Amino acid sequence: MSEWTHDIGCLILPSSSIQKAKQSLLRRGWVPPKGVPYLYPHPSRTAHAVIAVTHPEALDAVRIGSWSCLEAGTYEWCQGMRLEDTVRPPKHRAATPSPQGPSRFTHVELFAGIGGFSAGLAPLGGRCVFASEIDQTKVPVFYKNFPGSEGFLWGNISHVYASSIPDHDILTAGFPCEPFSHANFTRQGFDDNRGQIFWQIVRVLEMKQPPCFLLENVPGLLTFEDGTALKVIKGALERAGYHVQYQVLNAVHFVPQKRKRLYIIGTRRDLDRAGANSSFVFPVVPEGQKSVPRTSGEVLEVLSEDKASHYTLSDTQWKHVVETWQSDKGEAARPIGKKLMRLEGWASTLTKNYKRSYRMYTEFVHQGGGRNPRFLTPRECMRLMGFDDTFALAEAEGDAYAHAGSAVCPPVITFLGKALVEWLENVVSHEKGFEERKGEMLP
Ligand SMILES: C[S@@+](CC[C@H](N)C(=O)[O-])C[C@H]1O[C@@H](n2cnc3c(N)ncnc32)[C@H](O)[C@@H]1O
Repeated sequence: MSEWTHDIGCLILPSSSIQKAKQSLLRRGWVPPKGVPYLYPHPSRTAHAVIAVTHPEALDAVRIGSWSCLEAGTYEWCQGMRLEDTVRPPKHRAATPSPQGPSRFTHVELFAGIGGFSAGLAPLGGRCVFASEIDQTKVPVFYKNFPGSEGFLWGNISHVYASSIPDHDILTAGFPCEPFSHANFTRQGFDDNRGQIFWQIVRVLEMKQPPCFLLENVPGLLTFEDGTALKVIKGALERAGYHVQYQVLNAVHFVPQKRKRLYIIGTRRDLDRAGANSSFVFPVVPEGQKSVPRTSGEVLEVLSEDKASHYTLSDTQWKHVVETWQSDKGEAARPIGKKLMRLEGWASTLTKNYKRSYRMYTEFVHQGGGRNPRFLTPRECMRLMGFDDTFALAEAEGDAYAHAGSAVCPPVITFLGKALVEWLENVVSHEKGFEERKGEMLP
């Protein structure tokens, strides 16, 4: 990984300060790659602009040259933000307060998708106060499932001034995993634009300093670049003021699907004093814990004849699956039964390409009676992810499959969230704000 990718970013500052800031940076040997700063919509409605910073030593220059402004919050440093992110002006929206109501704690969900973190934290009494998602197929699904979220679900996080994000107790984010995924053969990590997006999390943490955070990614991040990527990530989160712990958990203890994911938890260092009873301990899944439902067969819907034929593979599709699976190895080495879901056990990992790349990644439901196997329905996929049946799906079936495969498993989030909330209640109860909200807490 090249060192300098960590120093890509933008400085957001009032337009009136642009010349002064540029001169200060120029004096320190930094030349902006493009002369024209982009206008940046800012909740204060004062004209703001961004300057791109791509020189290896730029971060230091920014910090030295503009330190007092950064400290005072007049300037904001957006690590990882690129000028391309700002080219299309976002639809400006004034920050709207989230719906009022009793809550045990508040959280934000960056890279929200369809809201898997919110779905997992809601049973604990969580209230989402800010979310951000750019995929226009996911946004309406989030709206449908979290009434009132029109007021707090924003688009591109790079376009959001961190200080406009409401105070919150837990920051959550399942940041784009493709750059680190084993399923992505061209894994480019931080050199991939989506890898850069990680720095948005750091930017928000640095500015908002919530008591804790919970992040999710693929386990491939552990070994990516021989562990360097994770080291960089951990280092950045620690520098933002957090004690960082991580673990790979398999969702199979919670849902009948094998799904290993890396969970990174951070607790603010001034609150989490190691050795004291205030330190957070990463929860351990109780030995022998069984998922609910216990088997993948239990998630199957009873389908009408029409629906069953809709999901049944055509002869051509099934032939493609067999050919791709066995290629030159043959039935003995690659029995086709392996492509059928173990109804008495658990499903293999769902991917967002469940339907699209069915030849490669997909498991099918055996139907018997001489029929070809069938695809899982989108609802069955959602059940395998642990979403309950009240969760509304995208209208377009292809979108619903993609959403299920890229979401986080809510029951895993409830499990981790419970430990975090207990920590919060033990440790942060003296904090102003948290104390005040205690009166409103749910039983
Ligand atoms: C791994 S998915 C997260 C899924 C989510 N945890 C869920 O339960 O549905 C990552 C999400 O980040 C979104 N994303 C990528 N870049 C973004 C950006 N700059 N601002 C906001 N969202 C972004 C993608 O559209 C994608 O939905």
